[in-house]
Amino acid sequence: MNRIAEGVALRNAVPLEQAEGLTDALGLVLGEPSSLPLSTRLYHALREWIRAGRLTSGQRLPSTRQLARDLGLGRNTLLAAFDQLLAEGFLTTRQGAGTFIADLPFPQAQVAAENVAISSRLPSDAGPLLSTRGTLLLGYSHARQTTSSAFAPGVPALDRFPHDQWQRLLHRYQQRMPMDWLDYQAQGGVPALREVLADYLQLSRSVRCRPEQILIVQGAQQGFELIVRLLTDSGDEVWLEEPGYHGAQACFAAAGLEMTPVAVDAEGMGVVEPACPGSPRLIYVTPSHQYPSGVTMSLTRRLALLEAAERHGAWIVEDDYDSEFRYGQRPIAALQGLVEDSRVIYVGTFSKVMYPGLRLGYLVLPDGLIEPFRRANARLHREGQYAVQAALAEFIARGHFSRHIRRMRDCYRRRQALLRKALAPAVSRGLRLSDGQAGMHLVAWLDAPEQERILVEQARREGISLSPLSSYYLTSPGQPGLVLGYAGTVEAEIGRAGQWLAQAWCDLEKG
Ligand SMILES: Cc1ncc(COP(=O)(O)O)c(C=O)c1O
Repeated sequence: MNRIAEGVALRNAVPLEQAEGLTDALGLVLGEPSSLPLSTRLYHALREWIRAGRLTSGQRLPSTRQLARDLGLGRNTLLAAFDQLLAEGFLTTRQGAGTFIADLPFPQAQVAAENVAISSRLPSDAGPLLSTRGTLLLGYSHARQTTSSAFAPGVPALDRFPHDQWQRLLHRYQQRMPMDWLDYQAQGGVPALREVLADYLQLSRSVRCRPEQILIVQGAQQGFELIVRLLTDSGDEVWLEEPGYHGAQACFAAAGLEMTPVAVDAEGMGVVEPACPGSPRLIYVTPSHQYPSGVTMSLTRRLALLEAAERHGAWIVEDDYDSEFRYGQRPIAALQGLVEDSRVIYVGTFSKVMYPGLRLGYLVLPDGLIEPFRRANARLHREGQYAVQAALAEFIARGHFSRHIRRMRDCYRRRQALLRKALAPAVSRGLRLSDGQAGMHLVAWLDAPEQERILVEQARREGISLSPLSSYYLTSPGQPGLVLGYAGTVEAEIGRAGQWLAQAWCDLEKG
């Protein structure tokens, strides 16, 4: 189950005494996506292995000529890495005998022994190291290679963010922090931010809310975590969309909830009996723009969902993560505002409209939950980052936020059009794409799981991050396809990676 921990531990544990082992290990390093020069990557890898005891004092290294041949590299690349390690004293040469690992005071034998001990304790699911909850959590935590590669989903146009404007505001607030911002607080976030947010949500998203209902958290993920902690016990049932968002799945799984996947069709999540016979405590849904399929939930389904929540005494978690980005259609009003006193907790995030590293999001809570959530959040996660919150309040109040969203809407519309253009040869031969009326990604539907596997693997070698659609399903086999984030991919890269994908798909179809 826990492939990530196992892989890392095993990879770091195996001694590299044999020349073939070393060549293979270097080959793996070079196969990983990176923007660093090859010689630098070789240098870093060898230095790290010496430090960690995988290469031990006195061990003879293969010649640069042999390594260059085995790795398919120019000899100068190897020489550059070896020269640097020689200069720094990690390697020594002996006349006529070759290059050796220097005699260094690292606790090599001990480090290596510890690593081997860890690896031998690791069963295939890393059971002894992690709790059941930790193991479940990692099962949903896919190792992300790099956000800068093409098509990583969920990443906004970081290259287009108005950094100077934002930095000026941040700087101003960080320079004059009132005393209470330095203290422990349980106020639910800076009042100015909650006020502008309440206005924004009422106007733009038809959310019914007063500033006191808003709790500022560190992103949607922390919001889910808080909801689960406060409203569920292990073994409670949660209904969630199938396919659905990994972040929510991970949170529910780690809390020991019974997950009931509910199929999404052209109208969104189908929450009507007999498809959902149980009795949920939570219902997680992305009604404005279903993640990842892109479907908008119909009004009939929204009303059915509200009714089901009432009947079961369940809470609906409405994740409204990217609804600002609609192209050619008016934004769809939030589910939360559809009826008065609904059993909906609205979850918003600044990760898409600002940037993910900001780590700011919010919950809009029904009256009875405001006080317990505010207190529990201050207890569990502590509040803070008030200067950042105040800067964001002014960023919104001065209109920079709406302007940025408008610009990003144009940018994403353009980037999506470029992606469609690059994929046109494949589309004309049958590749199906989602309609792209909203959001930051397209879905390409594939016919066979094998196609998905091959394309993802080939793309990885090209430094292109293709997210397999089947991985978003809790029940297998999931529908094969690709989730193609275009918002955070610069224009030239969309062209290159899109053309590569179109060609790769056409080759597969032929083949
Ligand atoms: C469906 C969905 N919800 C929420 C989020 C945002 O999460 P956070 O605010 O924790 O960055 C994402 C980001 O990728 C998402 O795809």
